[in-house]
Amino acid sequence: MKIVKAVLLFALMALVLLVLGLNAWGYFTLGTLEPDPNARRDGGANRVVMIFGATGRAGGGLVEAAADDPEVERVYVVTRRRIPLLDSLETTGKVEILLHQDYTDYRDLADILPAVNTVLWALGTSSLQVDEATYTRIHVDFPLAFVRAWLAARQEAPMAFHFIAGMGTDGDAAWARDKRFTETETARLAEGNGLRSFSYRSGYIRPADAQSNGLHYMLEALMAPGAMAISSRDLGRAMLEISARTEELPNGTVIDNADSIAYARVYREAMAE
Ligand SMILES: NC(=O)c1ccc[n+]([C@@H]2O[C@H](COP(=O)([O-])OP(=O)(O)OC[C@H]3O[C@@H](n4cnc5c(N)ncnc54)[C@H](OP(=O)(O)O)[C@@H]3O)[C@@H](O)[C@H]2O)c1
Repeated sequence: MKIVKAVLLFALMALVLLVLGLNAWGYFTLGTLEPDPNARRDGGANRVVMIFGATGRAGGGLVEAAADDPEVERVYVVTRRRIPLLDSLETTGKVEILLHQDYTDYRDLADILPAVNTVLWALGTSSLQVDEATYTRIHVDFPLAFVRAWLAARQEAPMAFHFIAGMGTDGDAAWARDKRFTETETARLAEGNGLRSFSYRSGYIRPADAQSNGLHYMLEALMAPGAMAISSRDLGRAMLEISARTEELPNGTVIDNADSIAYARVYREAMAE
């Protein structure tokens, strides 16, 4: 019995140290961008928004943020299946669900793509769930095929592509190299044609409120002191704010979790005025 207690105590101490260490790292290293208090906002920059990965933990709140935004007129959700959260958002009349299966081929969206200003990309999976070739297909081939199809349909600012990469994308693992490649390649494709591409090296993303349970909120609270967590809805708000500030961040900017929190805050302040 004493041994079991000692092991449990040791595990608890290790967990506490891990959380403290992560928060200390986040506190001292994150947050490289400062939102300009006098930035010019283009109220039409997010007129038409398209969202990928909306059925996932990171994606649900992005749809909520876009549906809530008074400057957004239309939200297209491109997905291979429906979920209750999307069904309920569709009843607002602003959100349209487009069922789509092949993420290397976007010919069925050809009529819509010329009108799209902002794309929020939360489509992805864990490297633990698929082999390397499948991971590359999902995180490199899918987004690059989309950006090429979008640019073939439209090359007129304002246009912004927001890609969720994740914390650790600067590492040596195969998954990190894939996501880094997508970051740089989307920025390269965007050069000189009105598109700006942004990559979010987010920490823990808490799912949409309706999909969150006690554990999700606890994780968010534990990681908050070091700016290591953000809600999916706030991440969506940060993306919309960065799109709207058409002259602030250049194509190819990498946005860490503390930066996303800062842009979500100025978004909320602007909306409250
Ligand atoms: N969640 C986080 O805390 C977090 C933090 C940092 C970065 N990220 C990154 O954000 C991305 C999404 O993560 P998540 O946690 O939201 O994952 P998730 O909950 O598993 O959701 C994944 C989303 O991508 C779609 N998807 C996955 N594989 C697909 C495929 N082969 N074809 C079409 N759609 C596919 C899923 O659609 P279905 O529902 O149809 O399967 C779902 O909408 C990943 O790249 C992840 O690394 C997440």
